[in-house]
Amino acid sequence: MDRILHIDASARKTRSLSRDLSAHFVSELRLARPEVEVVYRDVGTNPPPFVTEAWIAAAFTDPSQRNTEQQAALRTSDELIDELESVDGIVIGTPMYNYGMPAALKAWFDQVIRVNRTFSFDLARGDWPLAPILSGKKLAVLTARGEFGFEPGGIRSDWNHLETHIRTVSHYLGVDEMTVISIDYQEFGDERHRQSVASAFSDASRLARTWAAPVKEDAV
Ligand SMILES: Cc1cc2nc3c(=O)[nH]c(=O)nc-3n(C[C@H](O)[C@H](O)[C@H](O)COP(=O)(O)O)c2cc1C
Repeated sequence: MDRILHIDASARKTRSLSRDLSAHFVSELRLARPEVEVVYRDVGTNPPPFVTEAWIAAAFTDPSQRNTEQQAALRTSDELIDELESVDGIVIGTPMYNYGMPAALKAWFDQVIRVNRTFSFDLARGDWPLAPILSGKKLAVLTARGEFGFEPGGIRSDWNHLETHIRTVSHYLGVDEMTVISIDYQEFGDERHRQSVASAFSDASRLARTWAAPVKEDAV
């Protein structure tokens, strides 16, 4: 792991569990591998703009044919994709909002998943015309949730649209290894919550050490 993109998506700047957990992961990673470079993007306090009609028209115009307005419509997208391309690891600290991802994080995904930049489209591929252009990235999703039971077999397993959605779209970021670590029970504030915080922080430390470990020759 040489360079990571660290994204935070909580609307809260203070008392944010997902920010605390993602910061812990990044600091453990840097402790174990000080040379790791970190690109930081706070979409929670600085949300990317929503995709517009002008954005879509520009994205589907050949780059050599784009006029000045179209180039401007894609400027944020270009910047965010350049950031994404430059890293081999992505760390997302995000709350669950309404059983899915915050709108600000969805806006980021909509800006970076773009034809001929992060995916190609070819009807010759039959029923699966989209294919990712990027590859080889790891993704750590560090979440905080007020309720609990979102794991397979849990009482709210069918309501976990945060993890399933990120897992599906991460394919188009070039992710081939994704790990999710969650803090649960935030709204209960009880012993189960305290235990959930402790185990999430220790799981994050362990995952950071695996990211820091050199890639084995026979694994390449
Ligand atoms: C707008 C909003 C929607 C939320 N929706 C859910 C939800 O659907 N399920 C859940 O378990 N918790 C939900 N929560 C609770 C948050 O996930 C929880 O407070 C979490 O700790 C927020 O992340 P943060 O501490 O990083 O800000 C919601 C909180 C807010 C503010």
